[in-house]
Amino acid sequence: MNSLETPRIASVLADLHHCASHDWRVFLRAFPSVIGGALRGRDAMESAKPHLKDAFIPISPAQGLALYQFARARRAQHIVEFGASFGISTIYLAAAVRDNGGGRVITTEIEPGKISRAREHWRRAGVDPEIQLLEGDALQTLRVISQPIDLLFLDGWKDACLPVLQLLEPHLAPGACVLCDDIKGFRKTLKPYVTHVRSRPLTYVSMELPLGDGLEFTVVV
Ligand SMILES: C[S@@+](CC[C@H](N)C(=O)[O-])C[C@H]1O[C@@H](n2cnc3c(N)ncnc32)[C@H](O)[C@@H]1O
Repeated sequence: MNSLETPRIASVLADLHHCASHDWRVFLRAFPSVIGGALRGRDAMESAKPHLKDAFIPISPAQGLALYQFARARRAQHIVEFGASFGISTIYLAAAVRDNGGGRVITTEIEPGKISRAREHWRRAGVDPEIQLLEGDALQTLRVISQPIDLLFLDGWKDACLPVLQLLEPHLAPGACVLCDDIKGFRKTLKPYVTHVRSRPLTYVSMELPLGDGLEFTVVV
């Protein structure tokens, strides 16, 4: 069974990836703020953030398929995601949970406008029963997690990926997969994260996969 092949989910994903291909317009609008910020010594991401509420900034279809494959291979039933945006990656994860026989994707999003649209996309794809969205800052909302996590996907703002991992570390199941996106594009910001997962050989085995903007793939040993 592969729910990604069903017409309902496949057509919603195709539509959303198409919409996301227009993100460049948002980045163009953000450009003057980024340049102005850089001249004042401000971090590019901080200057761009107010504009990014309108951008999908999604994983690629190949990354989505990889997430689905990892979740299927791990037979993941409890998945946590940091950063849902408009809900694309969550659909891949929810499809995997369903095909694994049932479970839950707990995802997080801080932008109110994105939250309502993500919910609408999940309803259209028919995966809303598998998804629970925690609204607000993930570093606060994820404190409710108590059950073992089979797969953790980190795709919120990059400076928070390590704090989110550290918050959830006590709940990672043996053999859990942890994936973190944008390793190439945010190499400097994610350096502490990468150092953390690659310097604990008794806890993690980790490497960067050449998917999208670089996907750090970590297994809890
Ligand atoms: C790169 S996008 C996520 C894309 C999504 N995973 C996908 O592939 O479709 C990052 C998202 O994380 C959200 N975010 C960033 N920091 C957050 C936080 N502290 N708590 C909750 N959401 C956050 C942003 O609002 C943004 O929508």
